[in-house]
Amino acid sequence: MISKAAHTTRFAMLSTYIGFTLVTLMLMSAYIIGVLSENLYSEKSTQLFAKANIISMTASNMWEAEDSNVQYLRLEDIMERSLAGTSIRGVVTNTSYTVLYDNNSEADMIGKVFMRDVLKRAIDGEQAESMFDSDSGKTVTVSVPIEQGNVIVGGVYLAENVSSISETVRTIQASLIIFSALIILIMIMLSIFISYIITQPMAEFIDIAHAISKGDFSKRAAAKGTSEMAQMGMALNYMCDELNALDEKRRKFVSDVSHELKTPMAGIKLLCDSLVEAENPGMDTVREFLGDMSEEIDRLTRLINRLLTLSRLDADAGLTLIETDITMLVGAVIRSLRQMAAEKEISIGFDISTGAERTIAVDYDKIYESVYNIADNAIKYTPENGRIQVRIGRNAGMCVIEIEDNGPGIPDSEKQKIFDRFYRLDDSRARDTGGTGLGLAIAKEAVMLHKGSIEVLDAPEGGSIFRIKLPFERNE
Ligand SMILES: Nc1ncnc2c1ncn2[C@@H]1O[C@H](COP(=O)(O)OP(=O)(O)OP(=O)(O)O)[C@@H](O)[C@H]1O
Ligand SMILES: [Mg+2]
Repeated sequence: MISKAAHTTRFAMLSTYIGFTLVTLMLMSAYIIGVLSENLYSEKSTQLFAKANIISMTASNMWEAEDSNVQYLRLEDIMERSLAGTSIRGVVTNTSYTVLYDNNSEADMIGKVFMRDVLKRAIDGEQAESMFDSDSGKTVTVSVPIEQGNVIVGGVYLAENVSSISETVRTIQASLIIFSALIILIMIMLSIFISYIITQPMAEFIDIAHAISKGDFSKRAAAKGTSEMAQMGMALNYMCDELNALDEKRRKFVSDVSHELKTPMAGIKLLCDSLVEAENPGMDTVREFLGDMSEEIDRLTRLINRLLTLSRLDADAGLTLIETDITMLVGAVIRSLRQMAAEKEISIGFDISTGAERTIAVDYDKIYESVYNIADNAIKYTPENGRIQVRIGRNAGMCVIEIEDNGPGIPDSEKQKIFDRFYRLDDSRARDTGGTGLGLAIAKEAVMLHKGSIEVLDAPEGGSIFRIKLPFERNE
């Protein structure tokens, strides 16, 4: 489907091309016609001037005559020689504008006054020219004085119909119009082709964007080559891949959450049904069942609280940074877990490397929760009489917090996965211990928000080391 937007773009491009070409061609044609006709006309008047001057000079040499007849015959001879084979009209007058000779005998002008502006200017001593339109077309006229010594004795008037020049100009004009029309036609075809090349991928992108807005991330653009269009296509495809991955993650998360919620709900339902169906259950049985139900509800509450924490981190509401003494923060975590460790007779050692910088700007609650979740795991997954070592140090501009235990350790293949949401190594056992599988996901998310990192390593004597790194300086 070619969308409306692509059509509009194509139309805009097409009309711009054509408009531009049309204006250029019109200007070019007007210029060519202007220069050409000016040249042709000035050439014509130059020719006429040359003839008029020859006539004037020759006439001047034999001006004095015994009578007008002789003068007429002489002038006739000069004019016939000069104008033979042309359609030029030639008139010779004296300074009173009385015609002495006219090669147009039909006009019957001999002895009559022939008054023309151009001739008047010649009698005044000027080499004059003018052009006028008549019924028979454009006419170029020139007039030069006839001088004897320094005295003007008459004038030569030559006129030539130059409609052939107009004809030539018109023919050239017509050729130019045909030529322009051809260029416009080629231009239209070319611009349709070019705009098709440009707008075709655009139409495809628009289709994909529409599909994305409808939640369909499966479409991909045919992005080949290195052009900007291809790069845009690739960027769009990359975006679709990312959106698809995100969508998949979201779906999985929703299904995981439902699954995790279903288990305690099913437990509560079973306990309720058993109580309802039991005939005369004793008070002890009722109390035991209610106690179990309460435990399930605790699990549900814990899970929901964890989910709320995660959703707050996902919302990325920003960090409330407080200059924090990190040893105090870790110390507070250990104190709150001391009771739990004591119950399993687990010893906790606390090691602060000398000279380590302690103050760092962090979101106290978020980092507290991260350290708490890791320390809580260390106690929870380490067998009785175990040993936990907490270390704080500095390395390459980072504050490093390590929590090492001598528990079962984590296989290499699982080291990445344990940070995934709801991931538990021994699923059923972990769930029995009340684990939601969200503790490390929350820890990682919080540390990432601080532009830090979190990783798990094997402890030298078995067990695992969780290492949090937080940058002292953050370049936002
Ligand atoms: N110190 C550890 N030693 C061994 N296994 C661990 C350790 N810490 C985490 N794990 C494993 O990683 C899994 C994920 O831990 P996580 O803290 O995300 O979830 P959880 O502890 O099961 O649940 P919750 O933190 O909500 O109690 C755990 O189920 C456990 O199998
Ligand atoms: Mg945990």
